[in-house]
Amino acid sequence: MNHTMLDTRTAPAASARGLTRSYGRGDTLVPALRGVDLDLPRGRFTAIMGPSGSGKSTLMHCLAGLDQPTSGTVTVAGRSLESLDDDQLTTFRREQLGFVFQAFNLLPMLTAEQNILLPLELAGRRADRERFTRLVETLGLADRLRHRPSELSGGQQQRVAIARALVTGPAVVFADEPTGNLDSETSAEVLGLLRTSVRELGQTVVMVTHELDAAAYADDVVVLADGAVRAHLVDPDADQLVATLRGER
Ligand SMILES: Nc1ncnc2c1ncn2[C@@H]1O[C@H](COP(=O)(O)OP(=O)(O)O)[C@@H](O)[C@H]1O
Ligand SMILES: [Mg+2]
Repeated sequence: MNHTMLDTRTAPAASARGLTRSYGRGDTLVPALRGVDLDLPRGRFTAIMGPSGSGKSTLMHCLAGLDQPTSGTVTVAGRSLESLDDDQLTTFRREQLGFVFQAFNLLPMLTAEQNILLPLELAGRRADRERFTRLVETLGLADRLRHRPSELSGGQQQRVAIARALVTGPAVVFADEPTGNLDSETSAEVLGLLRTSVRELGQTVVMVTHELDAAAYADDVVVLADGAVRAHLVDPDADQLVATLRGER
């Protein structure tokens, strides 16, 4: 196997170089990404923003090994994704990445606890009971573990999905519009928990969102426009973020 020698303590959690992704061809060619260079630092909560169609989901899918770029490279946790075959990529995703989607994607016949532990089960790993307990307590799920998804509220289901994403201690957690199906109060709770996972558990979270309120929970904001990075803002204040989204800076 091809190991890239990178210092994983200081290397970015994920990076892209010259990333392009086009859909279709000829007259119907859609260039979703037109050459993205990006470094996402470890231990930060980064929001990816931009108008509908600007390439947010495509970028996230390429960074997470769910979609293959047309050209360019993606490196996550020190591994070049293009060097991995399908099986290696599946294993890599299972062991190194966590996912939180708008539709919570829990398995209905499993309890909350079983859903949370599923990634470990699939990887043939034992649960670290201490980590598991800390996780479910941090996420306020300790008294919901025996419930099935249908017996939980939307916010509780998304908290279970977050616990499932975090249980392996992944290099990066990717979240695509994680509050898209939640009311504003529950959204605030879920976003606060994602931030807590960064602050207190040292996780790296990359979240796609088109909501300013959601991005306000992030440390950094990558603004996309027409398939390219318009800005990578570090600790922006609200005025700076709004001005950048309006295209004023
Ligand atoms: N599977 C696909 N087939 C064809 N075009 C696509 C596909 N997925 C996305 N696109 C196009 O690529 C562009 C970027 O899409 P997307 O990454 O979903 O943007 P966003 O998430 O910012 O709304 C859009 O023009 C979209 O229509
Ligand atoms: Mg999208």
